[in-house]
Amino acid sequence: MLCSPCAEVNYIQHHSHTSRAVQPPAIYTHRHCPLSLDLELLSLGAWSHDPGDLRVTLPLHWVILLFTLIIGLMIIITLTIVMTEFREMARVTLFGSPNNASRCSGATAFEPARDIRSLVGKVVLITGAAGDLGRQTAIELARYGRLARIYVADLPRDDDTKKALARQITYEAYGDSQSDMEVAGPHTEIRFLELDLSSLETVRKCAADFVAQKKKRLDILILNAGIIRMRPGETRKGYEIHFGINYLGHALLSRLLVPKMLLTTQQPGLTYV
Ligand SMILES: NC(=O)c1ccc[n+]([C@@H]2O[C@H](COP(=O)([O-])OP(=O)(O)OC[C@H]3O[C@@H](n4cnc5c(N)ncnc54)[C@H](OP(=O)(O)O)[C@@H]3O)[C@@H](O)[C@H]2O)c1
Repeated sequence: MLCSPCAEVNYIQHHSHTSRAVQPPAIYTHRHCPLSLDLELLSLGAWSHDPGDLRVTLPLHWVILLFTLIIGLMIIITLTIVMTEFREMARVTLFGSPNNASRCSGATAFEPARDIRSLVGKVVLITGAAGDLGRQTAIELARYGRLARIYVADLPRDDDTKKALARQITYEAYGDSQSDMEVAGPHTEIRFLELDLSSLETVRKCAADFVAQKKKRLDILILNAGIIRMRPGETRKGYEIHFGINYLGHALLSRLLVPKMLLTTQQPGLTYV
């Protein structure tokens, strides 16, 4: 008799010395066959047995129960994760987002209108200010700080895109300044610098372009640009892409601009990185 999974002639040898009266089952599973367990499970317990084989097969209703339990567990875990996210989103939407420091210390959350002091006459450089957080930072600093100038250091863009971004920052900071005469005080000028943090040469060029500007100061340097979860890749110098852009490019930029900031500290005012 052939064992169906492994096709080994076995049944007759196995039983010939015990009882010739035993009828071979319609399908015989060889006791030591490595495939027999899988095939038994696949057959959902309906596999025919050798009368001398004491293995217990899993009945169909147990398999269904186990399957239902696993699926149920997965649904509960997914729902818990989604509900936690949803609850957090609803809380932030309804009650705002106190930062971690304020949660721990009982201090109040950061309020741009209250916490951004006057920055009139100061100069700020923000990397990646075309992105969400950088752009909002530029808007809030322009609105409440009223700096002399914000440098947006970002990937190269055409003139129309740069103008549109500058208009958006100015509009959100001050409203339509042509018609809104209530907006008093100086307005911040927005300037662009080309910067590709994945290339150390363009980082050097960006720093040189900044140093060559007429404004002889740099009060605040905000290293905001960054990437996350990019496909595996390398910078032009062969560094891992996240490390190269988020860390190395910014490290070089700040190193090249620190002398300018140190010079600024000799003038009245503040200096931050
Ligand atoms: N949003 C969040 O919840 C969150 C949370 C934790 C940390 N962060 C970090 O905060 C920073 C800003 O976040 P975001 O949400 O505003 O990101 P975003 O919208 O993706 O903006 C990133 C900015 O960086 C620029 N950039 C990308 N690669 C660059 C490169 N090689 N050289 C120069 N500039 C480059 C982008 O320019 P393009 O627009 O031309 O690509 C963009 O202006 C990032 O570093 C991010 O990792 C964000």
